[in-house]
Amino acid sequence: MTSPTLQAFSYDPFDPAVMADPLPYYRILRDHHPVYYIDKWDTYALSRFDDVWRVLEINDGTFVASEGTLPAATVLADHNDGPVPDPPLHPMPFHANFDAPIYDTVRRCTSAPLRPRSVSGLADRVRQLAGERLDELLPRGTFDLTQDYGGIVAASMVCELLGLPVELAGEVLGTVNAGSMAQPGSGVEVAKARPGYLEYLVPIIERSRAVPGENPIADNLIAYRLPDGSGFSDVEAATQLLGIFIGGTETVPKIVAHGLWELGSHPDQLAEVRADLEAAVPVAREEMIRYCAPAQWFARTVRKPITLHDTTIRPGQRIITLLASANRDEREYPDPERFIWNRPIERLLAFGRGQHFCLGVHLARLEITVLVTEWLKRVDDWRIDPAAALRPPSSFQWGYNSVPVEV
Ligand code: HEM
Repeated sequence: MTSPTLQAFSYDPFDPAVMADPLPYYRILRDHHPVYYIDKWDTYALSRFDDVWRVLEINDGTFVASEGTLPAATVLADHNDGPVPDPPLHPMPFHANFDAPIYDTVRRCTSAPLRPRSVSGLADRVRQLAGERLDELLPRGTFDLTQDYGGIVAASMVCELLGLPVELAGEVLGTVNAGSMAQPGSGVEVAKARPGYLEYLVPIIERSRAVPGENPIADNLIAYRLPDGSGFSDVEAATQLLGIFIGGTETVPKIVAHGLWELGSHPDQLAEVRADLEAAVPVAREEMIRYCAPAQWFARTVRKPITLHDTTIRPGQRIITLLASANRDEREYPDPERFIWNRPIERLLAFGRGQHFCLGVHLARLEITVLVTEWLKRVDDWRIDPAAALRPPSSFQWGYNSVPVEV
């Protein structure tokens, strides 16, 4: 693969070369084009930590996600002539496409089990699931660190949060992984994957309509009324569960596998973490998230003109916030390409910021802490074959889907 050069530089998130390894592109963007215009998509790419940090904190309707936070190329190919209105209320898309008040009120329907106090009550369950996985996997000797360990644990937690039988965890994991595969030129077609996802989610709503009181998230969505007084159909209510279904399943396992791989590749760092697991793992966890978080960018559509670095972005145009570039911005993190378990991390953008800040942040941190701690408690030595690990090209989730490990 040839590296991008400054002379003939161009960046397109759906370019196969970018999808295979975006990091050298991000470096050039940060150094030379902090507000880079992609004519084909009428979209500006923001690559510096500080710019993304400041833009995402703006919550006055300048940016909306009315075209989705992860629009496919087919959406971006349409160039808007002025501000984009909200989508119609029916069929109601994922609530993140709306601004306040719909955005906040629907988000609240699903947020209770993900608040800090509720999540702290889940620690024993995550530990039990991690222990069960290790009981099964360690005698095997070789297995996939992403899918077989963190993958099943994260998907099991999603099943339990949403009221699905935990036996479905393997299927849910496979379904979400398949739906996140990005095609060169077009990105992730989440909408196309939805029928598969909704086969799991619609029955949750149907069951709550028949037997209320068992599932608070589904009950809240069924009781919810839009500003015109209408409620959600089963598919519309199920669609509001997509964020937990997808977000809860796909990111944590990749960070845990890649993070353990990095730690294991630095024996001096591993020894320091092992010396005091309780204190050190939560610190190492933050570096794992910075270094390994797979989501590359999220989009917003501009509704009011905004000027960044002397470039004025007009209503209807879009920005993409390159979070994965921000995570490696040398202006924020000295020597960013190095994994340093205890580097100071004062600010982090891996969970986003502002209005759309990750709903699952507390659960994600808990799961990573427990999965890493239990692994280090029980596994003295492990080997990863870099040539066998898979990091499929992606415009969205560029992470290690498969990390074969030998213990
Ligand atoms: C380390 C793991 C995770 C990372 C790095 C991560 C990252 C993110 C980011 C960057 C966003 C913001 C997207 C935007 O700005 O448009 C987000 C949103 C979201 N995340 Fe996570 N996430 C993680 C784990 C989880 C988990 C475990 C769940 C649920 C159980 C979850 C559920 C969500 C939901 C529902 C949203 C949408 C929020 C909204 O737009 O209102 N995430 N996540």
